[in-house]
Amino acid sequence: MHQFPVLLSLIAVSVLLMVTPVIGYRPWPHLKPNSSDLTLGSSKKFEGSSEFVQMRYHMGPVLTANITVHIVWYGRWQKSQKKIIREFINSISAVDAKRPSVAGWWKTVQLYTDQTGANISHTVHLGEEKNDRFYSHGKKLTRLSIQSVIKSAVTASTKPLPINPRSGLFLLLTSDDVYVQDFCGQVCGFHYFTFPSIVGYTLPYAWVGNSAKLCPGVCAYPFAVPKYMTGFKPLKSPNGDVGVDGMISVIGHEIAELATNPLVNAWYAGQDPVAPVEIADLCEGIYGTGGGGSYTGQLLNDKDGATFNMNGIRRRYLVQWVWNHILNYCSGPNALDQ
Ligand SMILES: *[C@@H]1O[C@H](CO)[C@@H](O)[C@H](O)[C@H]1NC(C)=O
Ligand SMILES: *[C@@H]1O[C@H](CO)[C@@H](O)[C@H](O)[C@H]1NC(C)=O
Ligand SMILES: *[C@@H]1O[C@H](CO)[C@@H](O)[C@H](O)[C@H]1NC(C)=O
Repeated sequence: MHQFPVLLSLIAVSVLLMVTPVIGYRPWPHLKPNSSDLTLGSSKKFEGSSEFVQMRYHMGPVLTANITVHIVWYGRWQKSQKKIIREFINSISAVDAKRPSVAGWWKTVQLYTDQTGANISHTVHLGEEKNDRFYSHGKKLTRLSIQSVIKSAVTASTKPLPINPRSGLFLLLTSDDVYVQDFCGQVCGFHYFTFPSIVGYTLPYAWVGNSAKLCPGVCAYPFAVPKYMTGFKPLKSPNGDVGVDGMISVIGHEIAELATNPLVNAWYAGQDPVAPVEIADLCEGIYGTGGGGSYTGQLLNDKDGATFNMNGIRRRYLVQWVWNHILNYCSGPNALDQ
Protein backbone atom coordinates (compact mmCIF):
# COMPACT_ATOMS: atom_id res chain seq x y z
CA MET A 1 0.00 0.00 0.00
CA HIS A 2 1.19 3.45 -0.82
CA GLN A 3 1.72 5.50 2.33
CA PHE A 4 1.79 9.23 2.06
CA PRO A 5 4.46 10.78 4.26
CA VAL A 6 3.31 12.24 7.55
CA LEU A 7 5.61 15.19 7.08
CA LEU A 8 3.51 16.25 4.17
CA SER A 9 0.60 17.10 6.39
CA LEU A 10 2.78 19.39 8.47
CA ILE A 11 3.95 21.18 5.36
CA ALA A 12 0.41 21.37 4.11
CA VAL A 13 -0.90 22.89 7.31
CA SER A 14 1.77 25.54 7.33
CA VAL A 15 1.11 26.32 3.68
CA LEU A 16 -2.56 26.68 4.44
CA LEU A 17 -1.86 29.13 7.23
CA MET A 18 0.26 31.29 4.98
CA VAL A 19 -2.02 31.48 1.99
CA THR A 20 -5.30 30.22 0.69
CA PRO A 21 -4.65 27.35 -1.69
CA VAL A 22 -5.15 28.59 -5.19
CA ILE A 23 -5.98 25.38 -6.89
CA GLY A 24 -9.19 26.85 -8.10
CA TYR A 25 -10.85 27.06 -11.40
CA ARG A 26 -13.44 28.97 -13.34
CA PRO A 27 -14.48 28.20 -16.90
CA TRP A 28 -14.86 31.88 -17.61
CA PRO A 29 -12.67 32.94 -20.53
CA HIS A 30 -10.06 35.58 -19.94
CA LEU A 31 -11.64 38.47 -21.74
CA LYS A 32 -9.27 40.44 -23.87
CA PRO A 33 -11.26 43.25 -25.50
CA ASN A 34 -8.67 43.70 -28.24
CA SER A 35 -8.12 40.04 -28.61
CA SER A 36 -6.62 38.92 -31.86
CA ASP A 37 -7.47 35.30 -31.10
CA LEU A 38 -10.13 35.10 -33.74
CA THR A 39 -7.93 36.50 -36.43
CA LEU A 40 -4.90 34.30 -35.91
CA GLY A 41 -3.81 32.76 -39.16
CA SER A 42 -4.33 29.06 -39.56
CA SER A 43 -0.59 28.54 -39.65
CA LYS A 44 -0.32 29.57 -36.02
CA LYS A 45 -1.15 26.97 -33.43
CA PHE A 46 -3.11 28.64 -30.67
CA GLU A 47 -5.02 26.70 -28.03
CA GLY A 48 -2.73 27.89 -25.30
CA SER A 49 0.49 26.97 -27.04
CA SER A 50 3.47 28.69 -25.62
CA GLU A 51 7.18 28.18 -25.57
CA PHE A 52 7.09 29.67 -22.08
CA VAL A 53 4.95 26.97 -20.49
CA GLN A 54 7.14 24.44 -18.76
CA MET A 55 4.98 21.66 -17.46
CA ARG A 56 7.29 19.80 -15.11
CA TYR A 57 7.20 16.72 -12.94
CA HIS A 58 8.13 17.30 -9.30
CA MET A 59 8.62 13.65 -8.29
CA GLY A 60 5.43 13.18 -6.28
CA PRO A 61 2.95 10.33 -6.81
CA VAL A 62 0.30 10.33 -9.55
CA LEU A 63 -2.71 8.05 -9.83
CA THR A 64 -1.50 5.03 -11.75
CA ALA A 65 -3.78 2.42 -10.16
CA ASN A 66 -7.45 2.11 -11.14
CA ILE A 67 -9.09 5.32 -9.97
CA THR A 68 -12.27 5.19 -7.94
CA VAL A 69 -14.32 8.36 -7.53
CA HIS A 70 -16.48 8.50 -4.41
CA ILE A 71 -19.17 11.18 -4.39
CA VAL A 72 -20.64 13.14 -1.50
CA TRP A 73 -23.91 14.77 -2.61
CA TYR A 74 -24.22 17.75 -0.30
CA GLY A 75 -27.65 19.34 -0.06
CA ARG A 76 -30.59 18.64 -2.32
CA TRP A 77 -30.01 16.82 -5.57
CA GLN A 78 -32.49 15.58 -8.14
CA LYS A 79 -32.17 12.06 -9.52
CA SER A 80 -31.85 13.45 -13.04
CA GLN A 81 -28.93 15.64 -11.97
CA LYS A 82 -27.09 12.78 -10.32
CA LYS A 83 -27.51 10.72 -13.45
CA ILE A 84 -25.83 13.29 -15.71
CA ILE A 85 -22.80 13.42 -13.40
CA ARG A 86 -22.54 9.66 -12.76
CA GLU A 87 -22.69 8.95 -16.46
CA PHE A 88 -19.93 11.47 -17.11
CA ILE A 89 -17.63 9.69 -14.65
CA ASN A 90 -18.54 6.31 -16.10
CA SER A 91 -17.77 7.67 -19.58
CA ILE A 92 -14.12 8.39 -18.81
CA SER A 93 -13.11 4.78 -19.42
CA ALA A 94 -15.86 3.89 -21.89
CA VAL A 95 -13.74 3.36 -24.98
CA ASP A 96 -16.64 2.28 -27.17
CA ALA A 97 -18.51 5.61 -26.95
CA LYS A 98 -19.04 7.51 -30.18
CA ARG A 99 -16.16 9.81 -31.14
CA PRO A 100 -15.14 12.38 -30.17
CA SER A 101 -15.50 10.79 -26.76
CA VAL A 102 -14.87 11.49 -23.10
CA ALA A 103 -12.51 8.49 -23.14
CA GLY A 104 -10.62 10.19 -25.97
CA TRP A 105 -10.34 13.29 -23.78
CA TRP A 106 -8.85 11.20 -20.95
CA LYS A 107 -6.12 9.90 -23.30
CA THR A 108 -4.27 13.19 -22.90
CA VAL A 109 -4.33 12.74 -19.10
CA GLN A 110 -2.92 9.22 -19.52
CA LEU A 111 0.18 10.68 -21.16
CA TYR A 112 1.46 11.72 -17.73
CA THR A 113 3.69 9.34 -15.80
CA ASP A 114 5.40 8.96 -12.43
CA GLN A 115 9.09 8.38 -11.59
CA THR A 116 8.86 4.74 -12.62
CA GLY A 117 7.39 5.59 -15.99
CA ALA A 118 3.93 4.27 -15.06
CA ASN A 119 1.12 6.16 -16.81
CA ILE A 120 -1.99 7.64 -15.23
CA SER A 121 -4.60 4.90 -15.05
CA HIS A 122 -6.84 4.28 -18.00
CA THR A 123 -9.56 3.15 -15.61
CA VAL A 124 -11.74 5.61 -13.73
CA HIS A 125 -14.90 4.32 -12.16
CA LEU A 126 -17.62 5.50 -9.92
CA GLY A 127 -17.23 4.32 -6.34
CA GLU A 128 -19.56 4.64 -3.39
CA GLU A 129 -21.87 7.58 -2.85
CA LYS A 130 -23.05 9.35 0.26
CA ASN A 131 -25.97 11.74 0.62
CA ASP A 132 -25.60 14.70 2.97
CA ARG A 133 -29.19 15.83 2.46
CA PHE A 134 -29.53 17.88 5.59
CA TYR A 135 -26.52 20.12 5.12
CA SER A 136 -24.51 18.65 8.04
CA HIS A 137 -22.16 21.64 8.07
CA GLY A 138 -24.61 24.33 7.01
CA LYS A 139 -25.26 26.15 3.75
CA LYS A 140 -22.00 28.08 3.87
CA LEU A 141 -18.84 26.03 3.70
CA THR A 142 -15.22 27.06 4.06
CA ARG A 143 -12.24 25.22 2.65
CA LEU A 144 -11.68 23.66 6.04
CA SER A 145 -15.30 22.76 6.74
CA ILE A 146 -15.30 20.91 3.40
CA GLN A 147 -12.75 18.57 4.97
CA SER A 148 -15.11 18.06 7.90
CA VAL A 149 -17.88 17.07 5.49
CA ILE A 150 -15.53 14.45 4.01
CA LYS A 151 -14.60 13.30 7.47
CA SER A 152 -18.28 12.78 8.29
CA ALA A 153 -18.66 10.74 5.08
CA VAL A 154 -15.70 8.43 5.78
CA THR A 155 -16.52 7.97 9.46
CA ALA A 156 -20.31 7.62 9.20
CA SER A 157 -21.76 4.85 11.35
CA THR A 158 -23.75 3.48 8.44
CA LYS A 159 -22.11 2.86 5.07
CA PRO A 160 -19.05 5.08 5.47
CA LEU A 161 -17.21 5.87 2.24
CA PRO A 162 -14.23 3.50 1.86
CA ILE A 163 -10.70 4.79 2.25
CA ASN A 164 -8.11 3.81 -0.31
CA PRO A 165 -5.39 6.44 -0.46
CA ARG A 166 -3.77 4.74 -3.42
CA SER A 167 -6.61 5.16 -5.87
CA GLY A 168 -9.64 6.71 -4.19
CA LEU A 169 -10.75 10.28 -4.87
CA PHE A 170 -13.47 12.16 -3.09
CA LEU A 171 -15.74 14.48 -4.99
CA LEU A 172 -17.85 16.80 -2.87
CA LEU A 173 -20.69 18.26 -4.92
CA THR A 174 -22.77 21.06 -3.41
CA SER A 175 -26.33 21.85 -4.50
CA ASP A 176 -27.33 25.25 -5.91
CA ASP A 177 -28.31 26.68 -2.51
CA VAL A 178 -24.89 26.18 -0.93
CA TYR A 179 -22.19 28.82 -0.89
CA VAL A 180 -18.56 27.76 -0.62
CA GLN A 181 -15.70 30.10 0.23
CA ASP A 182 -14.54 31.98 -2.92
CA PHE A 183 -17.33 30.43 -5.05
CA CYS A 184 -18.23 32.57 -8.07
CA GLY A 185 -15.61 35.25 -7.55
CA GLN A 186 -12.46 33.24 -7.89
CA VAL A 187 -13.42 29.63 -8.28
CA CYS A 188 -16.08 27.19 -9.45
CA GLY A 189 -14.25 24.21 -7.98
CA PHE A 190 -10.89 23.25 -6.54
CA HIS A 191 -8.94 20.21 -5.47
CA TYR A 192 -6.59 19.52 -2.61
CA PHE A 193 -5.97 16.74 -0.10
CA THR A 194 -7.33 16.26 3.38
CA PHE A 195 -5.21 16.75 6.47
CA PRO A 196 -4.66 13.89 8.89
CA SER A 197 -5.29 16.37 11.71
CA ILE A 198 -8.86 16.88 10.50
CA VAL A 199 -9.84 13.73 8.63
CA GLY A 200 -7.32 11.21 9.92
CA TYR A 201 -5.92 10.53 6.45
CA THR A 202 -4.36 12.28 3.49
CA LEU A 203 -7.04 11.87 0.83
CA PRO A 204 -7.14 13.68 -2.50
CA TYR A 205 -10.48 15.42 -2.94
CA ALA A 206 -12.22 18.02 -5.05
CA TRP A 207 -15.16 20.29 -4.53
CA VAL A 208 -17.43 21.48 -7.36
CA GLY A 209 -20.54 23.59 -6.81
CA ASN A 210 -23.78 23.91 -8.75
CA SER A 211 -23.80 27.58 -9.75
CA ALA A 212 -27.34 27.64 -11.21
CA LYS A 213 -28.66 30.13 -8.66
CA LEU A 214 -25.53 31.94 -7.49
CA CYS A 215 -23.51 32.65 -10.64
CA PRO A 216 -24.33 30.61 -13.76
CA GLY A 217 -22.83 33.35 -15.95
CA VAL A 218 -19.50 32.71 -14.29
CA CYS A 219 -19.42 28.97 -13.56
CA ALA A 220 -21.83 27.58 -16.16
CA TYR A 221 -20.50 29.66 -19.04
CA PRO A 222 -21.20 29.35 -22.00
CA PHE A 223 -24.62 27.91 -21.08
CA ALA A 224 -25.30 31.14 -19.22
CA VAL A 225 -23.68 34.53 -19.74
CA PRO A 226 -23.24 37.44 -17.35
CA LYS A 227 -25.61 40.41 -17.68
CA TYR A 228 -22.98 42.81 -18.95
CA MET A 229 -22.29 40.67 -22.01
CA THR A 230 -25.24 42.12 -23.86
CA GLY A 231 -25.93 40.67 -27.26
CA PHE A 232 -24.27 37.37 -26.45
CA LYS A 233 -26.73 34.51 -26.33
CA PRO A 234 -26.07 31.57 -24.04
CA LEU A 235 -25.53 28.25 -25.80
CA LYS A 236 -28.05 25.45 -25.34
CA SER A 237 -26.77 22.95 -22.80
CA PRO A 238 -26.61 19.30 -23.89
CA ASN A 239 -28.52 17.72 -20.98
CA GLY A 240 -31.11 20.39 -20.28
CA ASP A 241 -29.66 21.47 -16.92
CA VAL A 242 -27.55 24.63 -17.12
CA GLY A 243 -26.08 24.30 -13.62
CA VAL A 244 -25.15 20.62 -13.91
CA ASP A 245 -24.02 20.79 -17.54
CA GLY A 246 -21.75 23.64 -16.42
CA MET A 247 -20.41 21.54 -13.53
CA ILE A 248 -19.31 18.75 -15.88
CA SER A 249 -16.38 20.68 -17.31
CA VAL A 250 -15.29 21.72 -13.82
CA ILE A 251 -15.52 18.10 -12.61
CA GLY A 252 -13.43 17.00 -15.60
CA HIS A 253 -10.91 19.74 -14.81
CA GLU A 254 -10.57 18.66 -11.20
CA ILE A 255 -10.38 14.90 -11.86
CA ALA A 256 -7.67 15.46 -14.50
CA GLU A 257 -5.65 17.50 -12.02
CA LEU A 258 -6.24 15.10 -9.13
CA ALA A 259 -4.90 12.27 -11.30
CA THR A 260 -1.75 14.13 -12.32
CA ASN A 261 -1.13 16.15 -9.14
CA PRO A 262 -3.03 14.49 -6.26
CA LEU A 263 -0.77 15.80 -3.49
CA VAL A 264 0.22 18.96 -5.32
CA ASN A 265 3.81 17.76 -5.72
CA ALA A 266 3.72 16.03 -9.11
CA TRP A 267 2.79 17.71 -12.43
CA TYR A 268 2.52 21.49 -12.61
CA ALA A 269 4.06 24.46 -14.35
CA GLY A 270 5.51 27.56 -12.75
CA GLN A 271 8.12 28.07 -10.08
CA ASP A 272 5.78 28.48 -7.15
CA PRO A 273 4.54 25.28 -5.47
CA VAL A 274 2.01 27.39 -3.55
CA ALA A 275 0.47 28.57 -6.82
CA PRO A 276 0.91 25.64 -9.17
CA VAL A 277 -0.45 25.93 -12.69
CA GLU A 278 -1.81 22.49 -13.45
CA ILE A 279 -2.73 20.62 -16.62
CA ALA A 280 -6.31 21.90 -16.80
CA ASP A 281 -5.56 25.44 -15.58
CA LEU A 282 -3.56 26.04 -18.74
CA CYS A 283 -6.58 25.29 -20.92
CA GLU A 284 -9.39 27.12 -19.11
CA GLY A 285 -12.08 28.24 -21.52
CA ILE A 286 -10.68 26.14 -24.40
CA TYR A 287 -13.10 23.51 -25.72
CA GLY A 288 -12.13 23.19 -29.35
CA THR A 289 -9.78 24.05 -32.19
CA GLY A 290 -8.86 27.73 -32.29
CA GLY A 291 -10.01 28.28 -28.70
CA GLY A 292 -8.38 30.89 -26.50
CA GLY A 293 -9.05 34.35 -25.17
CA SER A 294 -12.81 34.84 -25.28
CA TYR A 295 -13.40 32.19 -27.95
CA THR A 296 -14.42 28.65 -26.90
CA GLY A 297 -13.00 27.08 -30.06
CA GLN A 298 -14.95 24.98 -32.56
CA LEU A 299 -17.76 23.04 -30.93
CA LEU A 300 -20.33 20.53 -32.12
CA ASN A 301 -24.00 21.27 -32.61
CA ASP A 302 -26.68 18.66 -32.55
CA LYS A 303 -30.02 18.58 -34.33
CA ASP A 304 -31.72 19.81 -31.17
CA GLY A 305 -29.49 22.89 -31.08
CA ALA A 306 -27.44 21.73 -28.09
CA THR A 307 -23.75 22.51 -28.01
CA PHE A 308 -21.15 20.00 -26.85
CA ASN A 309 -17.67 18.76 -27.74
CA MET A 310 -17.63 15.09 -26.76
CA ASN A 311 -19.82 12.02 -26.33
CA GLY A 312 -20.22 9.95 -23.22
CA ILE A 313 -21.90 6.58 -22.96
CA ARG A 314 -25.39 7.89 -23.51
CA ARG A 315 -25.05 11.65 -23.34
CA ARG A 316 -23.19 14.58 -24.77
CA TYR A 317 -20.93 16.81 -22.71
CA LEU A 318 -18.96 20.03 -23.00
CA VAL A 319 -15.58 19.61 -21.31
CA GLN A 320 -12.56 21.87 -21.46
CA TRP A 321 -9.32 20.58 -22.96
CA VAL A 322 -6.19 19.72 -20.97
CA TRP A 323 -2.50 20.40 -21.50
CA ASN A 324 -0.57 17.91 -23.59
CA HIS A 325 3.04 18.08 -22.38
CA ILE A 326 4.36 16.17 -25.37
CA LEU A 327 2.89 18.52 -27.97
CA ASN A 328 3.14 21.56 -25.67
CA TYR A 329 -0.39 22.76 -26.23
CA CYS A 330 -3.93 22.06 -25.10
CA SER A 331 -5.59 19.13 -26.76
CA GLY A 332 -8.94 17.39 -26.85
CA PRO A 333 -10.74 14.62 -28.72
CA ASN A 334 -12.63 17.04 -31.00
CA ALA A 335 -9.47 18.70 -32.32
CA LEU A 336 -9.75 19.18 -36.07
CA ASP A 337 -6.02 19.08 -36.74
CA GLN A 338 -4.50 16.45 -34.44
C1 LIG B 1 -7.79 48.40 -27.32
O1 LIG B 1 -8.51 49.06 -28.34
C2 LIG B 1 -8.81 50.42 -28.03
C3 LIG B 1 -9.70 50.99 -29.13
O2 LIG B 1 -9.56 50.30 -30.34
C4 LIG B 1 -7.49 51.20 -27.86
O3 LIG B 1 -7.76 52.55 -27.53
C5 LIG B 1 -6.67 50.55 -26.76
O4 LIG B 1 -5.42 51.19 -26.65
C6 LIG B 1 -6.46 49.07 -27.05
N1 LIG B 1 -5.81 48.43 -25.91
C7 LIG B 1 -4.78 47.61 -26.06
C8 LIG B 1 -4.24 47.01 -24.81
O5 LIG B 1 -4.30 47.32 -27.15
C1 LIG C 1 2.41 6.79 -21.30
O1 LIG C 1 3.18 7.99 -21.27
C2 LIG C 1 4.15 8.10 -22.29
C3 LIG C 1 4.96 9.33 -22.01
O2 LIG C 1 4.16 10.47 -22.01
C4 LIG C 1 3.47 8.12 -23.65
O3 LIG C 1 4.42 8.18 -24.68
C5 LIG C 1 2.59 6.88 -23.79
O4 LIG C 1 1.86 6.97 -24.98
C6 LIG C 1 1.66 6.77 -22.62
N1 LIG C 1 0.86 5.56 -22.69
C7 LIG C 1 -0.47 5.58 -22.71
C8 LIG C 1 -1.13 4.24 -22.72
O5 LIG C 1 -1.11 6.60 -22.73
C1 LIG D 1 -8.62 -2.33 -13.06
O1 LIG D 1 -9.61 -2.13 -14.04
C2 LIG D 1 -9.60 -3.08 -15.09
C3 LIG D 1 -10.65 -2.66 -16.08
O2 LIG D 1 -10.26 -1.53 -16.76
C4 LIG D 1 -9.86 -4.47 -14.53
O3 LIG D 1 -9.78 -5.42 -15.56
C5 LIG D 1 -8.82 -4.76 -13.46
O4 LIG D 1 -9.13 -6.00 -12.84
C6 LIG D 1 -8.80 -3.67 -12.40
N1 LIG D 1 -7.71 -3.92 -11.48
C7 LIG D 1 -7.88 -3.92 -10.16
C8 LIG D 1 -6.67 -4.17 -9.34
O5 LIG D 1 -8.96 -3.71 -9.64
